[in-house]
Amino acid sequence: MDIVIVGFGNVGKKVVERLNDPLFSGLRIKAVFSSMGGVVLREKDDYDYLFKLSTMNEPLSKHPRFNKISFMDYVQENPSGIAVFVIPPSYETGEPNLSMYRKAIISGYHIITADKTGLAIDYKGLKKLARQHNVLLKYTATVAAGTPVLSVAKSLKYRKVQYIRAILNATSNYVLNLIESGKNWDEAISQAIKEGLAEPNPSIDIDGLDAAAKITILLNEMGINITMRDVDRKSLRIYSEEEIRKAIKESLRLKQVAGYDSANKEVFVKPIFVPLISPLAFTEGAYNTVEFKVEDESIIIHGPAGPAWRTANVLLADVLEVLDEALGNE
Ligand SMILES: NC(=O)c1ccc[n+]([C@@H]2O[C@H](COP(=O)([O-])OP(=O)(O)OC[C@H]3O[C@@H](n4cnc5c(N)ncnc54)[C@H](OP(=O)(O)O)[C@@H]3O)[C@@H](O)[C@H]2O)c1
Repeated sequence: MDIVIVGFGNVGKKVVERLNDPLFSGLRIKAVFSSMGGVVLREKDDYDYLFKLSTMNEPLSKHPRFNKISFMDYVQENPSGIAVFVIPPSYETGEPNLSMYRKAIISGYHIITADKTGLAIDYKGLKKLARQHNVLLKYTATVAAGTPVLSVAKSLKYRKVQYIRAILNATSNYVLNLIESGKNWDEAISQAIKEGLAEPNPSIDIDGLDAAAKITILLNEMGINITMRDVDRKSLRIYSEEEIRKAIKESLRLKQVAGYDSANKEVFVKPIFVPLISPLAFTEGAYNTVEFKVEDESIIIHGPAGPAWRTANVLLADVLEVLDEALGNE
């Protein structure tokens, strides 16, 4: 089957590298895109060059076959295959991401994505479109890439879930840790950007957009149809550095918590001071935690999320699933 990679950043490069593994010998990489153009691969040397660019962390534009071709034009002319989306989110308008997903589906592409935009804004619509065009839509990497949070959520669809409390954004863990150890907000956020942990627009992490997109996808998986616009969001920055540090002395820790309460159907992402001994307070660095309160008992799932290499592995597991399903393998 043919595969195209949409995005050649941190994750896209790792996907390209892993596709070298004999496990993926049933796939032909046909094209790779970045924001300014793409590379359509014609011979073996083209992949070798691409592999070199990935391992050396160089931009796609350095490939000798790079040109201004857009993904939209490519799929129009080359229908059917697998499209792996590893492009940045676009939560304000949803574009160009939403149009790219729709175009790929209509052109007969199975979709594998790490980008949350499409599902966070139009979960139902994209699923319906994929069904109509008989293609698969896989998105394990969108929430806690590396820990099977979405399959747990799906398995709880018909159970009585009273509430959910979750830590789904690793960058906010990191920034809050830095503030606890003496940095101010601006210093902590700059350090997170410098180390490649925060998005260049830190609002996505700090103001809860990333976590809102994730809780939206998670709830939809449980049959609760919302969009990320329904999430009540509060920025982490409503608390001062002093308040965050003082809380520790009172055995509390500030965390960015994504939550859902079934009693009033409230969905939120907000900063909450949680008890130091709670599983949410223990969630550090690149780890995520989700607590589902189901029929008065807690199911807690805790594990790593990202970075790029792990996300690529999760995407490629989805690719293999598509191959299995498309070829009818058990
Ligand atoms: N990093 C992780 O561990 C992780 C984990 C889970 C999910 N994700 C999600 O995965 C996605 C990719 O993350 P990343 O860290 O790889 O991002 P990144 O390093 O910023 O790379 C994004 C890539 O997408 C390209 N791009 C932007 N707009 C495009 C367009 N319209 N058409 C084609 N390509 C376009 C960019 O091109 P240019 O190079 O020209 O800018 C760049 O190559 C994001 O949505 C992120 O939220 C990441």
